[in-house]
Amino acid sequence: MTLIPHRPIGRTGLSVPELGFGAASLGNLYHPVPDADARAAIDAALDAGLGYVDTAPHYGRGLSERRVGDALRGRGDTVISTKVGRLMDPDPSIIDDRERDGFRSPMPFRMRYDYSYDGILRSHEHSLQRLGLGKVDLLYIHDIGRYTHGDAADGYWQQLTSGGGLKALEKLRDEGAIAGFGVGVNEIQVCLDVMQEARLDAILLAGRYTLLEQDALDALFPVCMAAGTSIVIGGPYNSGILATGTRRGGTIHYDYGPAPEDVLIHVRGIESVADRHGVRLPAAALAFVLAHPLVASVIPGIGSADRVAQTVDLYGEAIPAAFWSELRSEGLLRLDAPVPAPETAA
Ligand SMILES: NC(=O)c1ccc[n+]([C@@H]2O[C@H](COP(=O)([O-])OP(=O)(O)OC[C@H]3O[C@@H](n4cnc5c(N)ncnc54)[C@H](OP(=O)(O)O)[C@@H]3O)[C@@H](O)[C@H]2O)c1
Repeated sequence: MTLIPHRPIGRTGLSVPELGFGAASLGNLYHPVPDADARAAIDAALDAGLGYVDTAPHYGRGLSERRVGDALRGRGDTVISTKVGRLMDPDPSIIDDRERDGFRSPMPFRMRYDYSYDGILRSHEHSLQRLGLGKVDLLYIHDIGRYTHGDAADGYWQQLTSGGGLKALEKLRDEGAIAGFGVGVNEIQVCLDVMQEARLDAILLAGRYTLLEQDALDALFPVCMAAGTSIVIGGPYNSGILATGTRRGGTIHYDYGPAPEDVLIHVRGIESVADRHGVRLPAAALAFVLAHPLVASVIPGIGSADRVAQTVDLYGEAIPAAFWSELRSEGLLRLDAPVPAPETAA
């Protein structure tokens, strides 16, 4: 069995396995996942040592939290994060599993954003009820920023700052109700903005530090290093393309939509180098992000027990140093991005 080392999260005293479980899939992201498959996926993940699970109220409007909580109850050895910023209001008109916000879940709730003091405390309480757990370890402020809210972002920023949202999170941390908090977003600037206002334990950064893009090295990572804020890598495959590659039929996904041409060209370049060195693309995607010392864990989206086994196998792949050198010399990887240390002979 592959042993998965643990890494610390900020100053929380918590440590998490460097390979974790992204549970957006268990909210029926894009396609339904039967209850039994969802349960088998989490059980397999925990058995394999992926004892860090990330969920959110948004993922299937509560469905992912329910499934995660049912599987984790009584397992004290796991770390769980969920998110704040979206409240679920009952809506009896929802009775089928048509796709809503990308999720095929029939959970009868309508989503409402609320990053205020009361909204954050209520969201935390609601999550505990849905999870059926006495505690969550980490809370991420979910999707605050322009990537999600566009012109409405300023109003939500006010809720978080002058409206007391950050105060609520600090209170929960000070009282020990949570071990730590941070933000969970797909963009860099808002992380820097929130870090001006509060001490963050971790940032769940989705898609913005991957084998495909490394802009986070410029402004964000140095600030995190100075502040002692860990990075958790969400969306390590940029929501699909770094797992599937470019060669299979059908839509190739990048950031929740069809991959644009410049991204396809970049990934084709990486694939050619990977072919020359006998490296699997998703294995490189996982190994690359884990080479950065700020990264505490990488949490690919996993929706089945088979995918757990496949992911652990990818994680365990030995990647030759020449692969990383060639990516750099071909201009496919930034020169200042750390790469895994070469394997040393025993
Ligand atoms: N704002 C935020 O806080 C935020 C945003 C995004 C993500 N996240 C977190 O990060 C986690 C992962 O992100 P994500 O699920 O959006 O994206 P991801 O991990 O980059 O990609 C998931 C996609 O890759 C496919 N995939 C995974 N492993 C594969 C493999 N071995 N071979 C082929 N395809 C594979 C999955 O396909 P199948 O569907 O077929 O399994 C799924 O469509 C989420 O679950 C969530 O916990 C957080």
